[in-house]
Amino acid sequence: APQYPRYTRAEVAQHRTPSDRVWVTHGTDVFDVTDFVEMHPGGPDKILLAAGGALEPFWALYAVHSQPHVLELLRDYKVGELSPEDAAPPSGDTEDPFSGDPPRHPALRVNSLKPFNAEPPPELLTQSFLTPNELFFTRNHLPVPAVEPGSYRLRVEGPGGRSLSLSLAELRQRFPKHEVTATLQCAGNRRSEMSRVRPVKGLAWDIGAISTARWGGARLRDVLLAAGLGDRTGEWHVCFEGLDADASGTPYGASIPLERALSAEAEVLLAYEMNGQELPRDHGFPVRVVVPGVVGARSVKWLRSVAVSPSESPSHWQQNDYKGFCPSVDWDSVDFRAAPAIQELPVQSAITEPRPGAAVPAGELTVKGYAWSGGGREVIRVDVSLDGI
Ligand code: HEM
Ligand code: MTE
Repeated sequence: APQYPRYTRAEVAQHRTPSDRVWVTHGTDVFDVTDFVEMHPGGPDKILLAAGGALEPFWALYAVHSQPHVLELLRDYKVGELSPEDAAPPSGDTEDPFSGDPPRHPALRVNSLKPFNAEPPPELLTQSFLTPNELFFTRNHLPVPAVEPGSYRLRVEGPGGRSLSLSLAELRQRFPKHEVTATLQCAGNRRSEMSRVRPVKGLAWDIGAISTARWGGARLRDVLLAAGLGDRTGEWHVCFEGLDADASGTPYGASIPLERALSAEAEVLLAYEMNGQELPRDHGFPVRVVVPGVVGARSVKWLRSVAVSPSESPSHWQQNDYKGFCPSVDWDSVDFRAAPAIQELPVQSAITEPRPGAAVPAGELTVKGYAWSGGGREVIRVDVSLDGI
């Protein structure tokens, strides 16, 4: 067998573009696939997403690659092997509160690593109607909690009701499983474009802070009725708390009006399934709220408690964040008490392919993108314009 040179992962990572040569790894082998990029049946842009790193996480998503002829083809491009010290994954740092965070898919575009905030690249977002779990955008404010499913309990309470403490098995068995296909969007989606008009604070999301999944779980409505919390008049809210907490022990929290929570039509879920699988850790394992049509911030992950209350959640994220203001308000003059918390979001649409500024061949062009109505409403029409008119 030929002797191959050894490379570190850092050296492989320097080969991400055709001009620097396109290198990838598979197992402990290193390949220079520059000359294959243009011939790739899945398109040149797809290979470039994996450039400089491992193929496995991408191929796990696109199972067409698990055929012998694909590996045979790859063998022709082998140029080296990984150095032995780089063949094993790096060891974790125990001091870091984020050291227990789960592994993530390398295709995600990271806006902040700690806490983890990342979005799928536009061309993968519209590769399929349901976003694969590994590529679903992630918006975390805090480290991902480690939850032991066997000892997990969900507390449900409110004035005049019966308090419940539900295990995962009880949540699954006592309440019929309901499924809903719903899109979650972060309020900051496309903020990087807003910042080109005027600087805005916050994560510089591109167009990918939006994703769609088939969610499965108990209806929040059924759980509230079982706790005797369904029958009341006047203004009430349902407050959620997560198991993720800051250094002072304060958890993430948010609320929605009780009316929405009880509406059969609004289909608010306490979800334990995402696209037919248990929830991934980044998306709220073992149970999260899913509020279709409403800003993602209310879909509380790692759900620890549900409380019916006469007031909205006291959480920072309900009171002093996720609110909209008119253009004359800035960070010096803002009064968060003056604005209501965002619930429903308005229409949204974006083109994922081609990307702004891309050179395209003359002639017919396929344009891809997404459109979303907000508020849980159906899309009834999509217009595409070439000249903004
Ligand atoms: C299809 C090779 C990287 C996405 C294929 C096929 C081959 C191939 C041979 C056709 C398979 C068949 O139909 O029998 C490779 C090689 C790669 C690579 C050698 C790396 C050097 C990637 C990456 C992605 C990707 C990183 C995604 C990010 C796809 C897709 C198809 C495909 C979506 C299906 C295209 C279609 O049928 O519409 N690839 N691939 N590939 N590949 Fe790759
Ligand atoms: N729930 C908890 N417990 N902690 C969080 O940081 N982030 C919220 C919401 N639920 C958050 C949370 C925000 S702002 C959004 S947009 C959605 O989760 C994102 O959900 P995703 O990461 O599954 O896409």
